[in-house]
Amino acid sequence: MNEFESKQAEWDLTASASADFKAQVGRPFDDNAWQALSCDVLDKLVVNDENGLSILDVGCGNGLLLSKLSSHFEQLTGVDYSKTMIEKANELLPSALFYQSQAKQLNFKDAGFDRVLSYSIFHYFPSYEYAIETILEMIRVTKRGGVILLGDLLDDHYEKAIKSNSDLEYEKTIPLIHRYSQWRFFNFEKLLADLAPHVDRIEVLSQPEVFPLSDYRKDIRLWV
Ligand SMILES: C[S@@+](CC[C@H](N)C(=O)[O-])C[C@H]1O[C@@H](n2cnc3c(N)ncnc32)[C@H](O)[C@@H]1O
Repeated sequence: MNEFESKQAEWDLTASASADFKAQVGRPFDDNAWQALSCDVLDKLVVNDENGLSILDVGCGNGLLLSKLSSHFEQLTGVDYSKTMIEKANELLPSALFYQSQAKQLNFKDAGFDRVLSYSIFHYFPSYEYAIETILEMIRVTKRGGVILLGDLLDDHYEKAIKSNSDLEYEKTIPLIHRYSQWRFFNFEKLLADLAPHVDRIEVLSQPEVFPLSDYRKDIRLWV
């Protein structure tokens, strides 16, 4: 099993290790914090009272975040490479469509979704190139005039500090997906320069200060 497959297997395990949907996606916060997160995501996705909107969530996990956004959308679709996460998502939101798929291969027609979201998955990607391929796929499946939100990307200004504080001996005892040394951080200037030719507009957005890790995590919004 290579590292990519090992991480995928670890997500399967994470999804089946607890009956608590919040813990399964690594966010065991109270309802107020989940409410704040979903409000922030809806705001950044520019979801007003428009009817009939469709959304695709890439790396949707067990669908919990999508379920919090669900009343604002008519059509909900999610993909995740973990089979167990997808089973949980089907259990939680039977009216939505969920598919097992890796992020960089989206099996959907061009320009099919009004909004495309991907939250808290980019730091698990195997390379910068993989992230770019995924974002180009997300752009391809978004309708013209639509909005994409890449949520919770790690800012590389903090990479050295975070990685040098991690105990590598301890890391050997925990899953790959929880090891700071494995996490991918992003140079936002480079990312924006690489993506700008493919979209109308691109912005880096801060997270509310009350979010626990907002100092080194940012969101990126693309206008297609
Ligand atoms: C921390 S969870 C976040 C789930 C959800 N987006 C949320 O914010 O609640 C990360 C999810 O990303 C998925 N994931 C990681 N790498 C992926 C990839 N390359 N392709 C598809 N899914 C991936 C994992 O299986 C896991 O369900």
